[in-house]
Amino acid sequence: MKAIVFTKYGTPDVLELREVDKPVPKDDEVLIKVHAVSINDWDWGALQGIPFINRLLFGLLKPKKKILGSDIAGRIEAVGKNVEQFQSGDEVFGDLSGEWGGFAEYVCARENALALKPASMTFDEAAAIPQAAMLAVQGLRDKGQIQPGQKLLINGAGGGVGTFAVQIAKLYGVEVTGVDSSGKLDMLRSMGFDQVIDYTQEDFTKNGQCYDLILDVKTNRSIFDYTRALSPNGSYVTVGGSMARLFQFLFLGPLISLISKKKIRIVALKPNKDLAYLNELFEAGKVKPVIDGPYKLSEVPKAFRHFGEGRHKGKVVITLEQNKRLENVLSLVEI
Ligand SMILES: NC(=O)c1ccc[n+]([C@@H]2O[C@H](COP(=O)([O-])OP(=O)(O)OC[C@H]3O[C@@H](n4cnc5c(N)ncnc54)[C@H](OP(=O)(O)O)[C@@H]3O)[C@@H](O)[C@H]2O)c1
Repeated sequence: MKAIVFTKYGTPDVLELREVDKPVPKDDEVLIKVHAVSINDWDWGALQGIPFINRLLFGLLKPKKKILGSDIAGRIEAVGKNVEQFQSGDEVFGDLSGEWGGFAEYVCARENALALKPASMTFDEAAAIPQAAMLAVQGLRDKGQIQPGQKLLINGAGGGVGTFAVQIAKLYGVEVTGVDSSGKLDMLRSMGFDQVIDYTQEDFTKNGQCYDLILDVKTNRSIFDYTRALSPNGSYVTVGGSMARLFQFLFLGPLISLISKKKIRIVALKPNKDLAYLNELFEAGKVKPVIDGPYKLSEVPKAFRHFGEGRHKGKVVITLEQNKRLENVLSLVEI
């Protein structure tokens, strides 16, 4: 099968399209024909081996897992003998982080990493959902305990998490401000953000505004800047960003909660936990993934460059559907 392989850490130039062995499912796994896969910030970090924790997970000097890609959607082609929930032909999607292997024509996965894809959801849409939407739900609802009537600010609003978070937040009847770079502000307005702030022009922690809830995907400021921008009972929730900052938040967050009514929380992703909830929202027309692309499998290095430059809007998706369409055309030609 074809796959995008990396054998050393580096820029997207180290990603190569190669012919590799098709994986074989273990007894508790299914084999999936991948139809779409999306890029996450974690893929980007793993590609470079930065921050260092990625070297601990992937290999100190060179990557042991050679195919990245966690958020996949596809059709089950074979099932291991202990698999109970799925059968061949099922259309599924999920976050395979820990196992990886999504930038390929086939991947194996354990059944607890997968959910059935609704028939009305395309494979591209399904591949955009798992990690970013789970972070948005778990950040707003579980850690942020979002309430109707609140003022919410999303820092890093135009990427994967932010574009899901605004749609989920609007279901609670909150006023949402989005912070991102100038090129993304029109998209944010069109998605329903009530206010937008260009971070290259304005520092939202110094403009005198206060928010009941801040959801942060960048965590690029000091904890004191963020607490200044919180209302007296406000909550700050980070889903990720600078490791040094996150350690600061881990140690100082509880102290701030002790001396004030402000809360500082860090999301530890529970992969796939809320996929059924996202399916419900999607089928009710309440959430729709924002897709940048789709790119072809051979274009994965280009898609990574686009992602790394921060030019993407929503989720960067790679589709393998074109291969299928090409196969169909070729079979018609043979007939
Ligand atoms: N907690 C966990 O267990 C866990 C698990 C997986 C991932 N994560 C984290 O989840 C996050 C993924 O977020 P995502 O998928 O939404 O990422 P993303 O798609 O890269 O979006 C980030 C957005 O932030 C914008 N941005 C860049 N610099 C900014 C700044 N200084 N101020 C405001 N916005 C800025 C980017 O646009 P421009 O570049 O154009 O500015 C981009 O639109 C990452 O932080 C990752 O580490 C956490």
